[in-house]
Amino acid sequence: MKSYSDLIEQTFYFPTKEFRVENNQLLFHDVNLMDIIKEYGTPLKLSYLPKISENIQYAKKIFNEAIAKNKYDGKYTYCYCTKSSHFHFVLEEGLKNDIHIETSSAYDIPIIRRLNETGHFSKDRMVVCNGFKRPLYLENIANLINDGFKNTIPVLDNLNEIAHYHDHVKGEFKVGIRIAADEEPNFAFYTSRLGIRYGDIVPHYKEMIAGTKAKLKLLHFFINTGIKDSAYYWSELSRFIYKYCELKKICPDLDTVDIGGGFPIKNSLGFEFDYAYMADQIVSNIKWICQKNHVPVPNIITEFGSFTVGESGATIYSVLNQKLQNDKELWYMMDGSFITHMPDVWGLNEKFIMLPVNHWDNPFHRVNIGGLTCDSQDYYDSEAHIGEVFLPRTDEDETLYFGFFHTGAYQESLGGYGGIQHCLIPAPKHIIISKDEDGNIQSRLFAPEQDSEQMMKILGYGKS
Ligand SMILES: Cc1ncc(COP(=O)(O)O)c(C=O)c1O
Repeated sequence: MKSYSDLIEQTFYFPTKEFRVENNQLLFHDVNLMDIIKEYGTPLKLSYLPKISENIQYAKKIFNEAIAKNKYDGKYTYCYCTKSSHFHFVLEEGLKNDIHIETSSAYDIPIIRRLNETGHFSKDRMVVCNGFKRPLYLENIANLINDGFKNTIPVLDNLNEIAHYHDHVKGEFKVGIRIAADEEPNFAFYTSRLGIRYGDIVPHYKEMIAGTKAKLKLLHFFINTGIKDSAYYWSELSRFIYKYCELKKICPDLDTVDIGGGFPIKNSLGFEFDYAYMADQIVSNIKWICQKNHVPVPNIITEFGSFTVGESGATIYSVLNQKLQNDKELWYMMDGSFITHMPDVWGLNEKFIMLPVNHWDNPFHRVNIGGLTCDSQDYYDSEAHIGEVFLPRTDEDETLYFGFFHTGAYQESLGGYGGIQHCLIPAPKHIIISKDEDGNIQSRLFAPEQDSEQMMKILGYGKS
C-alpha cells in the first residue's frame, strides 16, 4: 500500500523550501515539530519569527529590483499592517527590517507609543493611519502628531475627518486620502464603503486641504481581493493612478501612492504566484501612466499584512478519536476548533496547508477533520488543490499529530484571542520559535492554554 509520503511526493514537488520529512516526521523551517509537541503538547499555536523578516526582505528586494529595472524615479516603502497580528513579538521582529507601520484603530496608537518607549520605533518612522475613525482614534492621531511623530499620515476615509486635524493639530501636518475602489464584479456591492468616492476627491482637496496647514502627501487604495494578475486588478490600479496624476497637477505636495496590502501567501504545497513579475508590472504600469500624463512618478508604499506574518504561523493538533459515522464518512476528531482557532476556515472557507507531523510512512485514507464545538460547520474536508482531505491511517496505539500552516495572520484577532469562545473552547498554548545569533533554533512558551479561571473572570463569576 502506498504511504502518505508517496501521496505527497506524487502530487507535489516535495520537499519544499519550508517543509521536509526526516524519520517520517515533519520539519517546518528545520524545526522538528515532534520535538516541540513532546515539549509542550497539543493543541498549540506556533510563531516562527525568522519568516517575518524573510518575507519583508523579499518584498523589498523585488520592488527595489523593479524600480531599478524600470528606471523608476521613486522610492519603495514597506509598511506593516498591524491588524493582521498585533503581537509584540511580531512587531519587534518586523521592525528589525527598517519598516513603517499602518494602523487601523485608536488602540494601535498606544502600541506605537510603547514601541517608541522601548526603542523599537523612532518618531521619524511613518505611521499611516487608516480606517473609519471614532473620536478616540482622531484624538490619538492628533496627539501623536503633536508629540513629534512627524511622519504620521492620517488617511482620510470620509469628508468629515479632516476637520478634527485642522482643529487639533498644531502646525503643518501630512494627510492622505483613501479612494473608494470598485469591488470585484461578483461582489455584493459595487463600490467599497471605505474611502472617498472618486468624484469627491478633487473638490474635497480644493475645499479643505489646498492652501491650509494640511499637506496632502499620499493617495491610497486597497483592493479587497488582493494583488492579482487579473483584468480587474489592473484596471482598478490604472484608474487610481490616473486620479493620482490629475490630483498631482494641482497638488505639488502629493508624491506617494499607497497601494495597500494583498500579496497572497501559500495555501497549498502547489501554490504558485510570481511575486517579482507582479512588482515589476505594478512599477512599470505606474510609470507608463505618469509619463503619459507628464507627471513625475510617485513613491510607492505597500501595507502587507498576511504576507508579512501569515507564513510564520502554524496551528498543531492531535487526533483524539476516530469516528466512522456511516459506511464511508470517517471523522478525525481534533483537540481544537476551526471556528475558534482558525475562523477564516469557517467564515471564508479559507484553506491552509495541512500536513501530518508524524506517521508519514503509514498508508493514508480520506478523512473529515472535526472540531470540538457543537457547530455543524466546525469541520475541514477539502484542500486548496483538491476537494478531499487525506491523512495517515493509524493503529489504536498510535497518536497522529497534524498541523495547519501559514495561519499567522488574522486568526487570533478574528477568533478573539484569550476571550470567550464557542463551547468555551480554550485558546491553545502559544509557542514562539526564533533563532539565536548562531542560527540555533530556540522555542519559548508565550502563553499557556487558556484556563477556566480566566474564562470565569470574563464571565463575571466571583472566586469561590
Ligand atoms: C487598508 C488595508 N491595508 C492593508 C491590509 C492588509 O491586507 P493583506 O493582509 O491582504 O495584505 C488591509 C486588510 O484588510 C487593509 O484593509
